[in-house]
Amino acid sequence: MKALILYSSRDGQTQAISSYMANELSAMVNCDVQDLALVGNIDLGQYQQVMIGASIRYGHFDKVLTKFITQHLEQLNTMPSAFFAVNLTARKPEKRTPQTNSYVRKFLASSPWQPTLCGVFAGALRYPRYRWFDRVMIQLIMRMTGGETDTSKEVEYTDWQQVSSFAREFSQMQYKK
Ligand SMILES: Cc1cc2nc3c(=O)[nH]c(=O)nc-3n(C[C@H](O)[C@H](O)[C@H](O)COP(=O)(O)O)c2cc1C
Repeated sequence: MKALILYSSRDGQTQAISSYMANELSAMVNCDVQDLALVGNIDLGQYQQVMIGASIRYGHFDKVLTKFITQHLEQLNTMPSAFFAVNLTARKPEKRTPQTNSYVRKFLASSPWQPTLCGVFAGALRYPRYRWFDRVMIQLIMRMTGGETDTSKEVEYTDWQQVSSFAREFSQMQYKK
């Protein structure tokens, strides 16, 4: 039994979530974790399950996500698969489900890949690490949406228990298919 977790991450939070899940899964399955941008033409046939995680930046997932889905569509749709999104909108619990998170809702409505399992996690806000323009833009968005505006702060909103539950569901997925 072998599983693959692929991530698209700009600032490291989606990567950290992916590694955390791989660690949680390691007792049950042999799990590889790879960067979607570097994975190349991987053979999904060597895996029994696949999970893809991607973060949101200025309203969009990275285009490597669409590219990978297009390239591997047939296999993705015939094997047990999971998708999770990471963003700051999901810091609000009422926007942390595939039905209530607009990025995931839009993704599922237009994606030819329909994952077996889907989740959304709150990401991290790390002002000191952003370049000037991004810091100003994120601060503006946070001000408009009632979030943290102190640019000296780093805040991790990820609910690690939610991540663990998702990993558990993923490990049980093969039996549901
Ligand atoms: C430049 C920038 C733009 C972002 N745009 C959005 C956005 O449009 N909507 C949102 O909910 N979160 C947005 N975020 C928050 C990220 O999704 C969040 O920080 C996430 O943890 C990033 O994951 P990563 O570290 O794996 O890239 C943005 C973050 C940055 C730095």
